[in-house]
Amino acid sequence: MRETAPVFHDEQSGSWHVFRYDDVQQVLSDHARFSSRMGGGDPSETGQLFASSLITTDPPRHRQLRSLVTQAFTPKAVDALAPRISRLTDELLARIASLGTADLIQELAYPLPVIVISELMGVPADDRNRFKHWSDVIVSQTRSGAINEDHHATNVEMTEYFLDLIELRRSRPGTDLISNLLSAEIDGQKLNDVEMLGFCSLLLVAGNETTTNLIGNAVLCFTEVPGTIERILKEPSLLPQAIEEVLRFRSPVQSMYRVAVADTTLSDVQIPAGAPLVAWIGSANRDERQFQRPARFDIDREQIRHLAFGHGIHFCLGAPLARLEARIALEAVLSGLPGLTLAPGSRLERMDSTIVYGLRTLPASWQ
Ligand code: HEM
Repeated sequence: MRETAPVFHDEQSGSWHVFRYDDVQQVLSDHARFSSRMGGGDPSETGQLFASSLITTDPPRHRQLRSLVTQAFTPKAVDALAPRISRLTDELLARIASLGTADLIQELAYPLPVIVISELMGVPADDRNRFKHWSDVIVSQTRSGAINEDHHATNVEMTEYFLDLIELRRSRPGTDLISNLLSAEIDGQKLNDVEMLGFCSLLLVAGNETTTNLIGNAVLCFTEVPGTIERILKEPSLLPQAIEEVLRFRSPVQSMYRVAVADTTLSDVQIPAGAPLVAWIGSANRDERQFQRPARFDIDREQIRHLAFGHGIHFCLGAPLARLEARIALEAVLSGLPGLTLAPGSRLERMDSTIVYGLRTLPASWQ
C-alpha cells in the first residue's frame, strides 16, 4: 500500500487509510487539519468511554486536560517507581522461575503494568482482574467497528465500576491520581463525571494492554533472532535501544484515528471535510523511505525515530512508564530465565485487533 496506494479510500467503510511515514506523522500531529474528536454524549449510552478523554479531545481543551496529568508521568516522577516495579517483577518471576516453562504474558507481561497503574490510581488490588476482560472487549470492539450486546454490557459495567470508584474517592480522598484529579480545577471548574470516566478508562485500560504487548513482542523478537539475548546479556546498555527497535518493528499500537477538519490533500490525494482517517503507525514504522532495511529486526539500529507512541500534542503520556516497565521486566527475564526460548511446538496466536498488535499467549521455556 505504501508503494501503490499510500492514501487509500476504502469505499465500503468510507475511511481514508494513510500508510507512509511522512503522511502518518502529519495526520497524527497536525491537529488543526486532523481532529481527534469522537462521538460524545453519555458514555454508558454511546458505548464510547473514551469519547470525552484526553485522547479524543482537540486544543484548547486537550491542553488543559493534559496539564492535569503530565506531572504524574514525567520521566522523573516515573523513575521514582523503579524500585517498586523491580520488586513486583521479582515476585512475579519467583513464582515461575523453577517451573522451566510458563506463559510469560499471563505470568508477567499482563500483571505487571496492571498492578503498577492500579497502585498509581488507587484502585483496589482485587479488582484488577476485571480490567483484562474489559480491555479485551474494547480491543475487539475496535476491530469490528460496530458495538454488539457484549460490548455494550461491558461498557455499562465499566462505567458503573468507575463511577463507584470516583464516588468513593470523592468521599474519602487519598494521595492517588484519581483523588488528585477530583481536586483539580480548570478555570475554577472541576472535571465532570464524563471527563473523570474518560481519564479512568484511558489510564486503566489503554496503557495496560499496550505495555503487555510491548513486553510480549520484545520476548518474541529477542527469541526469534538468534544471538540477540546473548548480545544484550553481554552488553546490557543495548537494551533500551533494543526496546525502541521492538516498538518500531512490532508496534503495539498499529493505527490511530482522526477526522479531516476541512477539505484537504495528503500526498496529492484530495480528502473531503469530515472524512475519517486511519493513520497506520505499523506501516509508517516500516517505511523504506524512513528506515534502511525496515523489515529487519536490528538491535544495532540507532536513534530510531519511530511513531509507536504517536507524534505531536497527543504523544503518549505513558511512554516513560511503558519504557521503564519494559526495561525492568526484560532485564529480569533475560538474566533470571537462562536459555530462554519459545516453548517447542507452541502455536503463537495474535490478538484479534486492527489497532493493538500482540500475542494472546507466549509459552516460553528456560533451563
Ligand atoms: C497516547 C501508544 C502505553 C497513556 C498514545 C498514543 C499512542 C500510544 C500511539 C497517541 C494517540 C494519538 O495520537 O491519538 C502507546 C504504546 C504504549 C503505551 C505503544 C506501550 C508500549 C501507555 C501507558 C499509559 C498510556 C502505560 C498510561 C499509564 C496514554 C494517554 C494517551 C496516550 C493518556 C493520550 C495522550 C493525549 O492524547 O494527549 N499512546 N501507549 N500509554 N497514551 Fe499511550
